[in-house]
Amino acid sequence: ETTDITELLLSRIRDVADYPEPGVMFKDITPLLADPEAFAVLTDALAEVARATGATKVVGLEARGFILGAPVALRAGLGFIPVRKAGKLPGATLSQAYDLEYGSAEIEVHAEDLTAGDRVLVVDDVLATGGTAEASLELIRRAGAEVAGLAVLMELGFLGGRARLEPALAGAPLKAL
Ligand code: PRP
Repeated sequence: ETTDITELLLSRIRDVADYPEPGVMFKDITPLLADPEAFAVLTDALAEVARATGATKVVGLEARGFILGAPVALRAGLGFIPVRKAGKLPGATLSQAYDLEYGSAEIEVHAEDLTAGDRVLVVDDVLATGGTAEASLELIRRAGAEVAGLAVLMELGFLGGRARLEPALAGAPLKAL
């Protein structure tokens, strides 16, 4: 069954060469989102990770992590918490900067959305270098919450994100469908 799911999901991801810049093979998930059967299979599989990890909340990472994380949270019966790029959240926030290949970026969460006692599953579409996910795990811990795990549709293994995330995950599972 796992193989069937993997093949269905893979068949709905489009490789786009040289996007957004030369030499990069972009993984476009819009065909998957447009296919209700594949989208449901993906949502159910990620919701199962939420259940298996005992998560009490789902964090989605802007922007594609919102598209996946919100239905996963609903399906799992959990609240959804957006982690946004800096400057987008109106309330009191916690911010975390992280390095990009050139320059740096910053993500934020509403401080009141995560508290001690929460077990948080982070959901995103792609794990690449792991920089974004690592910063989100840091935010969750700084808020006093616990990391239940990280669940992504796909992992670009050649970029080494999994190894980079080992300290931040501290034993919590990383599931790439
Ligand atoms: C992409 C992707 C992940 C992140 C992975 O988002 O959706 O969130 O990059 O890269 P990393 O593992 O190297 O940090 P992007 O920053 O392109 O934002 P978007 O979804 O708003 O386009």
